[in-house]
Amino acid sequence: MSAAELVQTAKAMVAKGKGILAADESTGTIGKRFDSIGVKNTEENRRDYRNMLFTAPNFGESISGVILYDETLRQHAPDGTPFPKLLASQGVIPGIKVDTGAKPLAFCSGETVTEGLDGLSARCAEYYKLGARFAKWRAVITIGQGIPSATCIWANAHALARYAAICQEQGLVPIVEPEVLMDGGHTIEQCHEITEWTLSAVFDALYNQRVVLEHMILKPSMVISGKDCAAQAGVKEVAERTLTVLKRTVPSAVPGIAFLSGGQRDAVATAHLDAMNRLGGGPWTLSFSYGRALQAAALKTWKGTSANVAAAQAAFAHRARMNGLAAVGQYRGELEKKAA
Ligand code: 13P
Repeated sequence: MSAAELVQTAKAMVAKGKGILAADESTGTIGKRFDSIGVKNTEENRRDYRNMLFTAPNFGESISGVILYDETLRQHAPDGTPFPKLLASQGVIPGIKVDTGAKPLAFCSGETVTEGLDGLSARCAEYYKLGARFAKWRAVITIGQGIPSATCIWANAHALARYAAICQEQGLVPIVEPEVLMDGGHTIEQCHEITEWTLSAVFDALYNQRVVLEHMILKPSMVISGKDCAAQAGVKEVAERTLTVLKRTVPSAVPGIAFLSGGQRDAVATAHLDAMNRLGGGPWTLSFSYGRALQAAALKTWKGTSANVAAAQAAFAHRARMNGLAAVGQYRGELEKKAA
């Protein structure tokens, strides 16, 4: 596989003022999203919803790539154009989620390890043929009573590194996603410590599996207070702590870091990214790879009705634009009010 193509793809994924749309919800997860707007979880509705996102006018100005789910990668727009081709025709790179989910980790109650390594090489080769140029694998780390365990951290780091090496060998840029969940009552200090441990372990494992750092994108969670923590840290502290942890753990050879939103309110996720870039960022590009924080407003507006498509697309394009500005430290809260 061509190293030049991997470098070019990785750089394009974090091009200036652009980020990634995570639209790779599994059939079960998109079902939960549809439940919230009273829409049935049918293949046709899933296709119509994704088609609404992928045909939003000019969304490629702020979105460099879209992560798809297996079913979506094989679906077509109503005019018969395969979704990967529809995206590529707008200069948007198609990507694919390749893990098969977080499953209970033996001997580690309350913890998971992400599966999907068996047969991964052949699946990546097929995905490349179908038009994908990058992939995603999400590992989940939970903070709680006595957890995470070292067993969980190392099992997930190892799986992420095995996945990343296989992707690179098959010509796909791996998005390496170790998510420290914001669920729970933990403090930002605890999140800081666990995120630093997790990222250190992940880069150790990446080195051991011979992963080329120039050919990958890191997708971390931000260092943030637990959802149920009484003392919620402000934007400045989140930005400062996240930058501190990343500078300690992520080599400068990594071209870009694209954050997940992880359940943060959409404008808050934007403000955090913006604050990090205003603080000067780091040696890597700091961008976004949001799922919920890019889609929540569009989903609520769409409600499964074709008459709402244009308004839903406008809501999605607005969030994409706001995050594109945050990726270069030029977001301002007033821009939200103007749009409303
Ligand atoms: P969220 O931004 O909603 O966390 O989703 C990003 C993602 O791809 C999770 O794997």
